[in-house]
Amino acid sequence: MEQNSFLLQISGLSKSYSGVTVLKDVSLCFGKASIHGLIGENGAGKSTLIKCLNGITRPDRGTFLFDGQPYHPSVRRALSLGIVTIPQEFNLASSLSIRDNIFLGCELRRAGFLDHGAMRRRCNELLESLQCDLCADTEVSSLSIAQKQLVEIARALNRDCRLLIMDEPTTVLNPPEVNNLFRIMRGMRERGISMIYVSHKLGEVKEICDNVTVLRDGELICQTPISEVDVKEMANRMVGRELKGIFPEKRKVSADAEILLDVDQLSQSDRVKDVSFTLRKGEILGLAGLGGAGRTELAETLYGVRRKKSGRIFVAGKEVRLNSPSQAVRCGIAYLSEDRQKSGIIQDFGLDMNISLISLLKYCRCGFINKSVELKQAGMYRERFRIKSPSLTSPIRELSGGNQQKGAIAKSLDAEPRIFIFDEPTRGIDIQSRGEIYQFIHSLASEGMACIVISSDLEELIGLCPKVAVMREGSFAGFLEDEHINEKEIMYLATGVK
Ligand SMILES: Nc1ncnc2c1ncn2[C@@H]1O[C@H](COP(=O)(O)OP(=O)(O)OP(=O)(O)O)[C@@H](O)[C@H]1O
Ligand SMILES: [Mg+2]
Repeated sequence: MEQNSFLLQISGLSKSYSGVTVLKDVSLCFGKASIHGLIGENGAGKSTLIKCLNGITRPDRGTFLFDGQPYHPSVRRALSLGIVTIPQEFNLASSLSIRDNIFLGCELRRAGFLDHGAMRRRCNELLESLQCDLCADTEVSSLSIAQKQLVEIARALNRDCRLLIMDEPTTVLNPPEVNNLFRIMRGMRERGISMIYVSHKLGEVKEICDNVTVLRDGELICQTPISEVDVKEMANRMVGRELKGIFPEKRKVSADAEILLDVDQLSQSDRVKDVSFTLRKGEILGLAGLGGAGRTELAETLYGVRRKKSGRIFVAGKEVRLNSPSQAVRCGIAYLSEDRQKSGIIQDFGLDMNISLISLLKYCRCGFINKSVELKQAGMYRERFRIKSPSLTSPIRELSGGNQQKGAIAKSLDAEPRIFIFDEPTRGIDIQSRGEIYQFIHSLASEGMACIVISSDLEELIGLCPKVAVMREGSFAGFLEDEHINEKEIMYLATGVK
């Protein structure tokens, strides 16, 4: 192929952090008007490759050609060439409106003055093209994580881009939202734009990408047309061996198992309406629904983040008041938030201090934190979840996204809960570790913990949960069991449309 038929060529890219090699002599080509999948396990180096490319991180070695011309990455040069990135951990100013975020640094002006009207119009057009019913003036802090993802996408679309890099854009999007994004991506490809698409959802990679690149431990394993690999083959190449099914066998709880959680006509503003259900010891209940259906609001009400308006909650037969997370923790309820940045973990702390955060008392002796117990416990979790981190004390922010998520699970678990609410537990987690987390949720359940799993990944709900509740507009639209748990019935209840 002629050289300038490529949009981007990377040769000999290497990067290490304090002696640890993260990218090893990676050479790659990205064609024009095409969608390139980039896959690999947590910590394989995907985000680092992207940060080297868009100028956020300085590579140790490597050269880049963009459109046949030498390109020396810097944030400014990347933008001026039209290399736009939607980062894995969002980058929005939460106290600003959607419009201000989208136009930050590229404000529209007329006769030297900010043209607010034009910006609002353009912003609403963009939001409309994404088919989401958000309004330009809404403050970003009030958005759900799926909505924030859409704002990041809108912001990227607003820039004149030639190469759009998306680092896990669909982690918490629902099937219709994903389809919508794919529709937009296909439209962009038609207009000649190339995309790099990082994802752990291999089925989506197969569906949308023209070719796929596999990284393993910082090394390039292959770059092939998507037609030459199926999902299974992609997974095998990622982990370097044959990967078996990732879902453990479902186990039913007996009908007379103790009821650990009994929710009776619970309401919270207009996001949770009159919700009733019970959760037995050892049960794994899936919670499905479209974005905005109220699943996270329900979880936050049960965890004391939101105040209920009416209704009653019983834990192990006793009525409880849950007005704060600490009350919920005392009642034995744990909640893994969908948004790591909001309430999950503290970026500047290491694994050790993050894990002991909720159950600090356990680590205290005579008013001091017993550091060695804390480290031992963190080490145990690191092994159990294969958390890849330079050390137990290095700041969480230096860990890859998936490894941060594993740390967040360890942290909630350390409070030894009886009821565990997982909100998008495998967000950003690679296929092998996902299997481990499923195994793990199953073993918690078989030890008697009651689990609620909120997920926008239908495959996950279908494979993992013996029972699924579907929410629509704040209410429970129905429960599904056994063979009724399938994509069609879930979507039917979630949308109300057959
Ligand atoms: N600033 C940093 N300091 C030290 N180590 C880092 C830093 N940034 C990344 N790393 C390490 O580099 C490795 C690769 O991380 P990277 O974020 O590129 O992985 P990834 O493939 O994107 O994984 P994920 O799927 O979990 O997002 C990880 O082991 C991570 O701990
Ligand atoms: Mg990453």
